[in-house]
Formats: sequence, C-alpha cells, structure tokens
Amino acid sequence: MEKKRIAVLLSGRGSNFDALAESVAAGRIPETEIALVVSNREGAPGIEKARARGLATRVIPSKGLEREAYDRLVVAALEEARTDLVCLAGFMRLLSPYFVEHFGGRILNIHPSLLPAFPGLEAQRQALEHGVRFSGCTVHFVDENLDAGPIVLQAVVPVRDDDTGETLAARILAEEHRIYSEAVRIVLEGRYRIEGRRVIRDAAGR
Ligand code: GAR
Repeated sequence: MEKKRIAVLLSGRGSNFDALAESVAAGRIPETEIALVVSNREGAPGIEKARARGLATRVIPSKGLEREAYDRLVVAALEEARTDLVCLAGFMRLLSPYFVEHFGGRILNIHPSLLPAFPGLEAQRQALEHGVRFSGCTVHFVDENLDAGPIVLQAVVPVRDDDTGETLAARILAEEHRIYSEAVRIVLEGRYRIEGRRVIRDAAGR
C-alpha cells in the first residue's frame, strides 16, 4: 500500500511539526510520510528543523499577495507534492474559501485552548486572564472560520495560581504534541464519521 502523504504548514517555531515528524519516524503514525513542509516566513525555525530532517520544504512568502492568490500558490505546491492531509501547525494565516474547498475535510489545525473558548491569538494568555481553572488544546478540522470546525481530539490541563502565560503555554504545548499525532493517525485511518459538528469514531478505531 502506498504511504499516506501529509503536508505541514507553519509560520514559526515548528515544535508541533517536529512532534509529528518524530511520530511518523517512530511509526506512531503508520504507513505515512511527510511529503512537504511549507512556511510563509523565510527564517522560520520550523523550516530549519524540517531541513535538518532532510524533508522537502518550500518557503512561500505571503507579503504583497491577497489571500486567495497566495493560497493558490500553496495549494499548487501541496498538489505537486500529492498531499493527502494538510496539517496546520502554527500557521498564522486564515485560509481562503478556495483553499478550504480544495482540500475539503482534509485539513487539520491545532489550537492552544479548549475551543470554542479563546480562539485567535495568544489563547493561553486569554485563558489566564479570563481566570479559567482548566484550559488545554484542540485538534479540529478546518473550515472557513477562525479556529472552528469539527473537533477530533482535546486535552485538558489545569491552570495553577502561580502560572504565567509562559508556564501555562508550556504545559499546554506538551499536550499539543501528544494529541496532534494521535488525531492525525485517527483521521488517516479514516475510521470516523462526522455528524453535524461531532466527529464520531468507529468502535474498531478506538
Ligand atoms: C502552538 O501553540 C499552536 O497551538 C498555536 O501556535 C503555536 C505554534 O507553535 N496555534 C494557534 O494559535 C492557531 N490559532 P509551534 O510552531 O511550536 O508548533
């Protein structure tokens, strides 16, 4: 059987990308390869991490391009790489309807809160300032709205009294790295169905 091909889109540090790459290398996401890593920023540490792993990389700068024109470039690169599943990993851009329709149901994102709480930027700081006692992270399918779409997995972490944005973010990040690989495996195995907003796993897929 041909391996499933995932593409990772990132803008920065790339720790979620690295965790996915590690899971693929270790066989925790079986029969899969990382076909392409794309950054919209030259010099993103994540793209250096991908190069160090010997993976195919593309830097596609977004400066000066309108959203759909940019997304057409990215989609062309993803198609050229014969991408089965697109994983957003700290890719700090909203996708156009063109992109979402093109890869309908085959785009995942990770977000550092328990959605639908705290979408958008600095979700960990939003959670801290709101005073919630628990936060966490969410892997979800991507639709045309920000940090929305059916939820595949979530993980919960406690918020401690002495937390800062940084300590809370670090606690959440460890869970991000764990659940993103698990969610990618679930989705690539295809043993689930979507009912409304709910992602229901087949009994055998648990
Ligand atoms: C992660 O915490 C991810 O959840 C967040 O950006 C960070 C990227 O870190 N994404 C969002 O906030 C999306 N709305 P990384 O580059 O080390 O993976």
